[in-house]
Amino acid sequence: MSTMKGCCQTKAFAGAPCGTPVLIVILPLTLLCTLFLFSSPNHFQFSFFSNCQPNEVSDASLDKSEPDFRLLIGILTIPNSYKQRHLLRMIYDLQRPFPRAQVDVRFVFCNLTTDEQREFIALEILAHNDIIILNCKENMNEGKTYKYFSSLPQMFEGEDKPYDYVMKTDDDTYLHFHNFLESLRGKPKEDMYWGSGMPMLDQDFPPFMVGTGYILSWDLIEWIATSDIPRNDPAGPEDIYTGMWLDKAGKGLNRYNMGPRVYNFNGTEAKDFLPETIAVHSLKNDFMWATTLKHFNATATIKPSILYHI
Ligand SMILES: *[C@@H]1O[C@H](CO)[C@@H](O)[C@H](O)[C@H]1NC(C)=O
Ligand SMILES: *[C@@H]1O[C@H](CO)[C@@H](O)[C@H](O)[C@H]1NC(C)=O
Ligand SMILES: *[C@@H]1O[C@H](CO)[C@@H](O)[C@H](O)[C@H]1NC(C)=O
Repeated sequence: MSTMKGCCQTKAFAGAPCGTPVLIVILPLTLLCTLFLFSSPNHFQFSFFSNCQPNEVSDASLDKSEPDFRLLIGILTIPNSYKQRHLLRMIYDLQRPFPRAQVDVRFVFCNLTTDEQREFIALEILAHNDIIILNCKENMNEGKTYKYFSSLPQMFEGEDKPYDYVMKTDDDTYLHFHNFLESLRGKPKEDMYWGSGMPMLDQDFPPFMVGTGYILSWDLIEWIATSDIPRNDPAGPEDIYTGMWLDKAGKGLNRYNMGPRVYNFNGTEAKDFLPETIAVHSLKNDFMWATTLKHFNATATIKPSILYHI
C-alpha cells in the first residue's frame, strides 16, 4: 500500500492507471520537494521520498540496498468489512516507511457474492490494489487459511521466491510494525515458523502459533501447496492445524515464539499494553481500536490547524 493511490504498486500488483490529472499534481509537488531537498538535504531526504515519489516505491527501494527481507502480510477478512479495511490501511500506511524491509499488506477473502460487492471491491482494487480473492466460499475454519497459503505459489508463478516470509493475520489485530519487523530481522529464511506459541507450557518449541498472526517462510508455503499432509486435512481450527501439518512432516524447525508480546486487548490503562508489543488482538469494536491507537500514539503527530479541531 502506498500514500500515492494508484501510482505505487509492487510488481505483482502493477497495473492501476496513473493518468494526466495525477501528473498535474505531481509536477508542482516534485518542484516543491526538490526545493526542500536542496535546502536541507539530510533532514528532508526520507520524508521527501516517502511523500513525493510518483513512481513505484517499495520501502526497500528507498535506501537503494536490497531489503533484509520481503514479507507478504495477508489479513484474512470478509468482503463486507469495508470500514475495517479503511482503518487498517491508514494505520499501517502511517507506520511506513519500513527501513530495509519490503512489506506488502494484502486483504484476503473468498468469492464475492453480491453485485454491490463486485462494484465496491473493484473500486477498492483500482484505488489500492491490495486485495486477494481466493477461490472459495467464506468460512472460518473450513480451510480458508489452507486456501490462502496453498494458492500463493500459483498466484506468483514465474517469480522465483517472491517473498521470504508470508504472514497470516486477522482484521481485528493491531500490528506494531517497528517491534514486529525488528523481531524478524536476521531470522532464518528457510523452514521458519514465527508467532506466539501455544500452549503456554511449551514455550521453547510450541506445537502451534496462535491465529492472531503467524509467519511461515516461503519454502513452507510451497510445501503446503504441494504436500498431501495439509491437502488431506485442510479444515479445522486453522492455527492448530498449521502447527499440526508442520509437526507431522518434521518441518518448521526454526520456530520463534514471541510469546506474550502478542496478546489480546486487556484493558484501557497503560499497564494493559506491553512496551515491547508486537500485536494486540481481539480488537472487537471502535472503543478497543481507539484505545489501542491512542496508547501507541498513532495520531500524536497531528498538527494544529485552523481547519479542524479534534
Ligand atoms: C468462485 O468464483 C469463481 C469465478 O467466478 C468460480 O469459478 C468458482 O467456482 C467459485 N468458487 C466457489 C467455491 O464458489
Ligand atoms: C490482564 O489484566 C489482568 C488484570 O489487570 C492481569 O491480571 C493480567 O495479567 C493481564 N493479562 C495480560 C496478558 O497482560
Ligand atoms: C506516547 O507518547 C508519550 C509522549 O511523548 C510518551 O511518553 C509515551 O511513552 C508514548 N507511548 C508509547 C507507547 O510509545
